[in-house]
Amino acid sequence: MSNSNNEKELNITYTDDIIKERLSKYGAVYLPSDIKESVDDIIGNEIKKEILDDFFKALMKYEEFTEQLKNSKLTPNLTVLLYGPPGTGKTSLTRGFAKRYNIPICIVESDRLVSPLLGDTIKNIRGVVELAADIAKDRGAFVLFFDEIDAIGSERSNIHEVGEIKRAVISFLQVIDRVNYEGLPLAIFGATNHSHQLDSAIWRRFTFHLHFDFPDYHVRKKIIESFINKLKNAKIGVDDSIFSKLDEEYEIIQDISRDLETKLGHKISEFNDNFLRNELNKKHKTGGLLKLTYGYSGSDIERGTRVALFKAMSTELLTYDVFYNSLELVGGTAIHVERQDLLSNVRSFEGKQDQKKYQDNKLSGPPEI
Ligand SMILES: Nc1ncnc2c1ncn2[C@@H]1O[C@H](COP(=O)(O)OP(=O)(O)OP(=O)(O)O)[C@@H](O)[C@H]1O
Ligand SMILES: [Mg+2]
Repeated sequence: MSNSNNEKELNITYTDDIIKERLSKYGAVYLPSDIKESVDDIIGNEIKKEILDDFFKALMKYEEFTEQLKNSKLTPNLTVLLYGPPGTGKTSLTRGFAKRYNIPICIVESDRLVSPLLGDTIKNIRGVVELAADIAKDRGAFVLFFDEIDAIGSERSNIHEVGEIKRAVISFLQVIDRVNYEGLPLAIFGATNHSHQLDSAIWRRFTFHLHFDFPDYHVRKKIIESFINKLKNAKIGVDDSIFSKLDEEYEIIQDISRDLETKLGHKISEFNDNFLRNELNKKHKTGGLLKLTYGYSGSDIERGTRVALFKAMSTELLTYDVFYNSLELVGGTAIHVERQDLLSNVRSFEGKQDQKKYQDNKLSGPPEI
């Protein structure tokens, strides 16, 4: 959507249409009005939300503070690295903040920058950052989001020559340094599922490193409730016993967790050790939605809800069993990513079942214990 009248009044060069046209070869451009999700749609992650809110507030005040920042010689580097497994809200949360602060954002697909042709990768990296910097200067603020940033300068990239990888990394670092030095109101985000593969020099360039992870049972409860409420708000028939059963299961897990903490004399978390999982297997054998969705991302739960929706469309009522079976069908991401800590938990959770099947990613669904 174009704001051409406003744009003429403001006398800007980079109109909404021009931004879209010029940046489209690098990735997807979202104007605030194009963005559907809000910050509140991404449940949990409260500390990260606070950090990002401060970050965006600073971005909005960047130009106002130009002189002071220069004099302080401590100009804040407007860079944030988001890392963690797929589907945990990295892109959505950033887009939600861009909408909240009314700033256009370009999600660069890093694979599009990387070219097997010598020199092209460097040209693309410089091209997109310099263009974004010009837009930021013209519009007052802009967000450039490098998705899968590890594609720049890692073994995963399709640059085959080692020297070329190094040059790509160096040119990325140089161009970021230049933007920072000039104090332009350009926020640069990087996102990766493979933080261990990221060049350490790139890692260091980012001021904030925000780790996203699979949601714990407290957050999973809220995510499930929020998706079910979305269906209800859209006037799709939902059996309200889903909510009461979820409450019951939550109480059971909390009681077990509290007893365990008293016995152990310290706080426990669902992911850091096996205490809670083992105890749940003993005392909450049948399990419910919260036990099932251990190791699920928010995106897995969303996908499960979509699957359930198909069924609900034919039966005209979404029941607890349909919802459970749909989530079981989609499975959780944790068993597909290299997370030994979670895998070992899931494995012990599965009791006697064959671990080899997990390595082959063949097993899904709740355990038969
Ligand atoms: N904490 C959460 N609360 C609610 N929904 C969530 C949450 N995390 C993820 N989702 C859902 O999953 C969808 C996908 O999330 P998103 O694309 O932001 O993940 P990502 O971390 O960027 O994944 P990737 O690493 O694959 O790019 C979101 O649109 C949202 O609906
Ligand atoms: Mg993403």
